[in-house]
Amino acid sequence: MSAFQVEMSRGEIDPNSDWFVWVHDKKNIENGLVSGDLPEDGPEFWELYASDLKMAKEELGNNAIRLSMDWSRIFPTSTTDVPTRVVFDGHGNLSEVDIGEDGMHLLTERANKNSVKRYREILQEARKLGLTSMLTLYHWPLPLWIHDPIACRDDILHATLRGWIDQATIIEFAKYAAFVANTFGDLVDLYATINEPRVVSGLGYLLPGVGFPPGIQDLGLFVRATKNLAIAHGIAYDQVKKWDNVSTSRFGPAFVGVVYDLQYFVPNDEKNPDDIRVTKFQEYVWNEWYLNAVFKGDYDTNLNGIVEPNECLPHLVKGCDYLGVNHYSRSKIRFVEKGGDPRFNFEMVPCEENCTDMGWEIYPPGIRYAVNWAYEKYRRPIMVTENGIADAKDTRRKEYLLSYLRELYKAIDEDGVPVKGYFHWSLLDNYEWARGFEMRFGLFKVDRETKKRSPTRAVPAYKEIATTNAMTT
Ligand code: BGC
Repeated sequence: MSAFQVEMSRGEIDPNSDWFVWVHDKKNIENGLVSGDLPEDGPEFWELYASDLKMAKEELGNNAIRLSMDWSRIFPTSTTDVPTRVVFDGHGNLSEVDIGEDGMHLLTERANKNSVKRYREILQEARKLGLTSMLTLYHWPLPLWIHDPIACRDDILHATLRGWIDQATIIEFAKYAAFVANTFGDLVDLYATINEPRVVSGLGYLLPGVGFPPGIQDLGLFVRATKNLAIAHGIAYDQVKKWDNVSTSRFGPAFVGVVYDLQYFVPNDEKNPDDIRVTKFQEYVWNEWYLNAVFKGDYDTNLNGIVEPNECLPHLVKGCDYLGVNHYSRSKIRFVEKGGDPRFNFEMVPCEENCTDMGWEIYPPGIRYAVNWAYEKYRRPIMVTENGIADAKDTRRKEYLLSYLRELYKAIDEDGVPVKGYFHWSLLDNYEWARGFEMRFGLFKVDRETKKRSPTRAVPAYKEIATTNAMTT
């Protein structure tokens, strides 16, 4: 789960994030950029967490749960005046941010007490049930005091609160990460710093039609945001390691990774050299660029596939204890003449067969490919952090689950990939960002009015696998 997608409803809402403002914006709704559904009609996890976690434990047989906190809930007002030690390298890149005792003291005073209390209750409840929590620090909403998505959409040149395109955001993220590790470290050992960084930068700054803030198309800004998100992972990693020294599980005190969406891209026509070329480029930019930066310090900012001396920044590499892989489907890529930068002369072919409600192709071998690719390239333990299906009619979820798990098992058993965990997306039907509530990813359906949860067909099969650690069907 992620906070913004499940927390809000009849109880307490959080209006202080860029995503909240973005999905309420009249112009975005009128232009069909966002659905018009509102997150405050969501599943109400903020209030119903105890029964939901119990359901995950008892009805699904889970031993772990992945959830996130919203930065804007913890710090609804600015932390920019909290002192930190900041180091830049000779090229103006942020290379270190360190929060000291004084800074932590101020952050603790500044944090919203109510939110801290509730997040502690949620994590305590998970622990009581024997669920290991994997905590994502940043699953997309940014506090409004750091990103004004409407001002950026309307006039990025004059906007002042510009989110990930400014390094100032990294400094504030480091403070938030340090605070979370210090405050919740006795309940958390498994952290994901950032969820799908390339989705944030790619959908925000390259594909304005998809409905992600701030909805701009600018290659330079895309690269800048992606680069900052890579630096942000490393800097947050160091702060989590520094501030969480309490071990609560075999992962402890802090096992910290990043979560990345790896897609399986194939050329639409495997004999067409144009399709092959653009597919390679897409795979490089979408799957590889960010991870090369995080793991090797390769910041190929002109995207030419060659790391020139000024793009080689190994001193920015910090740690990454595991790689979280989100994988859903296969994408076919075909060349199309679009004008502009010729490397972007391509499109994704709309799904033709075996499509989910999102229009994503069901292609189970893709997950085996994705985890193999990730392990071969970066040699870190793998966690599958998302995999699932939007299936409102509930006719394909069970088969999807079983077929993907079979392929994942081959990756472990036949290929020797160290896959240490699997999280299904998602426990509940939730707020699917710009698409609203139409997309139903939940293992449990959620009634929009009553908030009642009811199991989908996949639940018994899921439970059997989770509790026996085996597949018989
Ligand atoms: C995101 C989730 C989202 C899911 C389905 C992932 O990209 O991390 O927040 O709901 O995919 O689209």
